[in-house]
Amino acid sequence: MRVLLTGGAGYIGSHTALVLIERGHEVIVLDDFSNSSVEAVRRVEELTGSPIRVIDADLSAPDPATGSGVGPAALAGVEFEAAIHFAGLKAVGESVRQPTRYYRTNLVSTLNLLDAMRENGATKIVFSSSATVYGDPQHLPQDELHPVGVGLTNPYGWSKAMNEQIIRDAQAARPELEAVLLRYFNPVGAHPSGRIGEDPSGIPNNLMPFIAQVAVGKRERLSVFGDGYPTVDGTGVRDYIHVMDLAEGHVAALERTMPGTTAYNLGSGTGSSVLEVVRAFETASGREIPYEIVPARPGDVAEMVADPAKANAELGWRTTRTLAEACADTWAWQSANPGGYAGGSAA
Ligand code: WQD
Repeated sequence: MRVLLTGGAGYIGSHTALVLIERGHEVIVLDDFSNSSVEAVRRVEELTGSPIRVIDADLSAPDPATGSGVGPAALAGVEFEAAIHFAGLKAVGESVRQPTRYYRTNLVSTLNLLDAMRENGATKIVFSSSATVYGDPQHLPQDELHPVGVGLTNPYGWSKAMNEQIIRDAQAARPELEAVLLRYFNPVGAHPSGRIGEDPSGIPNNLMPFIAQVAVGKRERLSVFGDGYPTVDGTGVRDYIHVMDLAEGHVAALERTMPGTTAYNLGSGTGSSVLEVVRAFETASGREIPYEIVPARPGDVAEMVADPAKANAELGWRTTRTLAEACADTWAWQSANPGGYAGGSAA
């Protein structure tokens, strides 16, 4: 299948591109490189031995020809059967400070993609959604029947929930479209080669890249956000999923699309606390991770864990990699590329 990957140079997009190519699919990457590097695409080409077509375009920009409506001119005449829509802004805290920018970018890009797909006759869309659409957990583990879009605490999360609705409505109006919403839990890890991985700009917001930068000596210590939660050791519990498992989940979803719109959790079903992640990373890297307990981060919940049974049954997919492997692969990436893609490679 020829698959358009919006945001295909990003963290999850680049790993998914690699797995798609390995499974015999053809990949076109569309990215504006605002928070990603063309070097990631180059390394996927190197790992797979396949050249990748890259379209350098901002999917949220209006079409200069029409002012809006049918997506960027960059997609005119580009033929693809399916799109995986990763492109978007993803920093939770920044979304609170810049809500209009987040809504404009994350919603307009989806609208433009859906219009371009209708114009081009593409019939499958897989959307990068997030477990954040579940808001404060009403029950654990969270299955796909958990309420969505209730009491969300930031524009990033709302933009994911709104995009789910936009895709459902677009699918209802165009029955030949098969749509899949993938609700990621906490993606971590890297390709085991250490050649591609997560390359956050500035101070990492997320736990694993922050720990990796402490381990490599870029940051002094980890701040653990609260130890008073009703969890195993008082620190927050999340369902960490290896990015290679996540990438395989996208391929499974793409290959098994069904009529209508279907949502799937992509998670492992197992929760780990912040301190459990710290210990796993220390073991994997052989480095000590200094940390201090600081007050809880506003908007954080105590625990989020996926019920992945629906994806297991309907997609024939399940996670196979452990947190220990995710830490080892993150360490391989971080230690070989201490400056990320821009810093070149120590390999
Ligand atoms: C995990 C745990 C923190 C950093 C967020 C978004 C979600 C998705 C993934 C992304 C929590 C604790 C973290 C640190 C810490 N979006 N922590 N010190 O909050 O579960 O999910 O990222 O693109 O939509 O909400 O992930 O990695 O930030 O935090 O103690 O420096 O680690 O409190 O318990 P989160 P996270």
